[in-house]
Amino acid sequence: MNGRPMENHGLPVYLFHPAFSRFQHTLADRNVVLTAADYAETHKYISVSAELYDSEQLRQKAILNSLNAAIHFDLLGINLDGTTPDGSIVTPTADNHNAIAVFYEFKDEIGMGNSDPAIQGPLSYRKAWVADERSSIRHSCCCPSFILAVAGPWMCILGAVFTETVLVQQLTDYVWTGGNPYDDKGLESVARLFKALFIGLQDLKMFYSNLAAAPAPDIQRMFPFTRSYLDSRSQKVNFRYIRRLSESKAVYVAENASGHELIVKFVQRYNLHAHRLLASHNLAPHLHYSNLDDAEMNIMGGLGVVIMDFIRGSQAYELYPNMRLPDAVYDRVKQAVDILHAQSIVFGDLRLPNIMITGQQTPMLVDFDWCGTHATDRYPPRLNDSRSITWHPDVARNGVMFKEHDVFMLKVMQPDHSMDLSG
Ligand SMILES: Nc1ncnc2c1ncn2[C@@H]1O[C@H](COP(=O)(O)OP(=O)(O)OP(=O)(O)O)[C@@H](O)[C@H]1O
Ligand SMILES: [Mg+2]
Repeated sequence: MNGRPMENHGLPVYLFHPAFSRFQHTLADRNVVLTAADYAETHKYISVSAELYDSEQLRQKAILNSLNAAIHFDLLGINLDGTTPDGSIVTPTADNHNAIAVFYEFKDEIGMGNSDPAIQGPLSYRKAWVADERSSIRHSCCCPSFILAVAGPWMCILGAVFTETVLVQQLTDYVWTGGNPYDDKGLESVARLFKALFIGLQDLKMFYSNLAAAPAPDIQRMFPFTRSYLDSRSQKVNFRYIRRLSESKAVYVAENASGHELIVKFVQRYNLHAHRLLASHNLAPHLHYSNLDDAEMNIMGGLGVVIMDFIRGSQAYELYPNMRLPDAVYDRVKQAVDILHAQSIVFGDLRLPNIMITGQQTPMLVDFDWCGTHATDRYPPRLNDSRSITWHPDVARNGVMFKEHDVFMLKVMQPDHSMDLSG
């Protein structure tokens, strides 16, 4: 799952190991101090990186020492079961197995060597991590590694984990590492890149050094690393994942120690106020926790978590094949929309898959990701406008949200009395 083609996009690696967001966070954090030595090592790397070489071998020889000095780790060119990445950083686990913190692939220049090192790196990752000798590590964790792809004076850093499948994600674009004497900011950003990699690598090294083989494969390794939350009395509640609910999104069913089932959802945006408002009218699941209001949210590459009760029931979409709601359900859904509208909140994604029917035709709204202020907030730019969904004609990618759009969606699901026997 490396996003090529697009349907091969997996979940963000940030969910599975904190080292990746630590990397990203460090990269963006202006408070991280760069020393004179950081600048000096980066400058050395930049000068050898900008150089022209007659062959890949000559470049490799010239840049490796400077690269190692800049990231304060040693990339070794070792042979991993027939795959030979151009380098890797091996780090021991608590029980002395060899984990791999970095795969390094490089090309003399862009377009040389007939392959993109950012594609080759993930292939080396997969080959090395499926090897028998790494099965004990594989059974105990999601095998997080950084991938360092270098093509001449360009560098891209990726993150990879092994959950149900290999997930690979670009953590940076291809960054220019060839320097420019009139752009000190460029030097600074490459120095920050190396610093961030160093800090991410330290995290991985520490993680693996505490990791001991699980006696049996641990299925939790396939799930996000968020495994607890603080309840309303600030008590820590641990939970374990049971399954993933949505094929495309990070929505999971989990249970706490007393067997209470929860939904754990990871989101880019979410309207907690709207969710709480409807939950107080029994029109949405009870919300246990969210970190969306916290600064801590940055721990997962900008994704927040929302934890709520799991609703036993079915989607209205599955229950009502004619796409029309029965009267009692419709009345409650309309009530939910009216409550939101009274506070100038537009629900936005008012479709049957987002209405759960529980018990005696009791609806609950889920999916408050889009909810926003009437005439102010906007739909996400990735809204599905393929016409498979009949939105109000004014609904558009990144378009402003209006209450009328919800009213339109309500009409579409209104009870159909046309077949009623009159008389
Ligand atoms: N609290 C809940 N209890 C039971 N099922 C839920 C709950 N929340 C969500 N679901 C189910 O999971 C599905 C996906 O959740 P949600 O709609 O919140 O995510 P999404 O980001 O819209 O994902 P998708 O695009 O796959 O719908 C819902 O359509 C619903 O069937
Ligand atoms: Mg949904």
